[in-house]
Amino acid sequence: MPPATSANFDRIARPYRWLEYLSFGTMLERCRFCLVPQLASARRALIYGDGDGRFLARLLADNPHLHADVVDQSSAMLRLLESRVSAVGARDRICIHRADALAFELTGNYDLVVTHFFLDCFSTAEALALAQKIRPHLSEDALWLVSEFAIPRGPAAIPAKSIIAALYAAFGLLTGLRTRTLPDYASALTHTGFAVAQRKMFLGGLLVSEVWKSKAHKNNELPHSHIRDDQLLQFC
Ligand SMILES: C[S@@+](CC[C@H](N)C(=O)[O-])C[C@H]1O[C@@H](n2cnc3c(N)ncnc32)[C@H](O)[C@@H]1O
Repeated sequence: MPPATSANFDRIARPYRWLEYLSFGTMLERCRFCLVPQLASARRALIYGDGDGRFLARLLADNPHLHADVVDQSSAMLRLLESRVSAVGARDRICIHRADALAFELTGNYDLVVTHFFLDCFSTAEALALAQKIRPHLSEDALWLVSEFAIPRGPAAIPAKSIIAALYAAFGLLTGLRTRTLPDYASALTHTGFAVAQRKMFLGGLLVSEVWKSKAHKNNELPHSHIRDDQLLQFC
C-alpha cells in the first residue's frame, strides 16, 4: 500500500493561498510567522512542504544569513516557492529538492527545521520516522518550528473535530491525501529527543505554532530567549 502521504498538491498549488484566506482569513499566516523572532540565529534550515513559499520568502528576507534546503513533492508548489524566493532576491540561498520527505536522503547539517501544516499529511508512525531521519543531521542547538491544526480541550473540541474532518475530506478529494486523523507529532518529537520550548495558539487552540529544541541543548533556554513556564503557552 502506498504511504498515507502519496498525495499530489499540484492541482491546488495556485488556488492554495486563496482557499486558505477564504477559510481562515489571515490566521494561518499569523500562526506560521508568530515565532519567527525566535529563529534569528538560524543559518542552515531544512524546510519541508512549505507549499507556495510565502513563509520561506519572508524568512529569508528577514534573515539574510540563512540558507535553506527545501523539500516538497509538488513541482507546482516548488515553482511558486522558487518565484517568491527569487522576488526577494534570495534564490541563491536555497536548494530545491522535489522529493517525498520520507524517502529523501539528508546529507547536510542544520540548525533549523520548519514544518508548517505539513506533519498533518502523515500518520504518527510516519512523523516519528521523519523525525528520526532528521535528528542525526541537526546541530546541538537546533530548533524545529512546527505549525499544526490541533484539537483543543473542552467544548471547543467538538467544532474543532468537525473542522479538521472536513479539511481532511477536502484534501482527500483534491490531492488524494489518505491521512484522516492528526498525527501525535508531539509524541514523535519527544520520543526523538526534542522538547517544546514555546507554544502559541490561535482560534481557541485549533491552530498551534511551536518551537521545539533538542533536549541535549546545553542549558534549557532558547538562544536569545528567556522563556518561563508561564510563558510557554500563549493564546493569541
Ligand atoms: C498542506 S500543504 C502545507 C503548505 C504550507 N507549509 C502551509 O503552511 O500551508 C502540504 C505541503 O507538503 C507537501 N507534501 C505533502 N506530503 C509530502 C511528502 N510526503 N513529501 C514532500 N512533500 C509533501 C505538499 O506538496 C504541500 O506543498
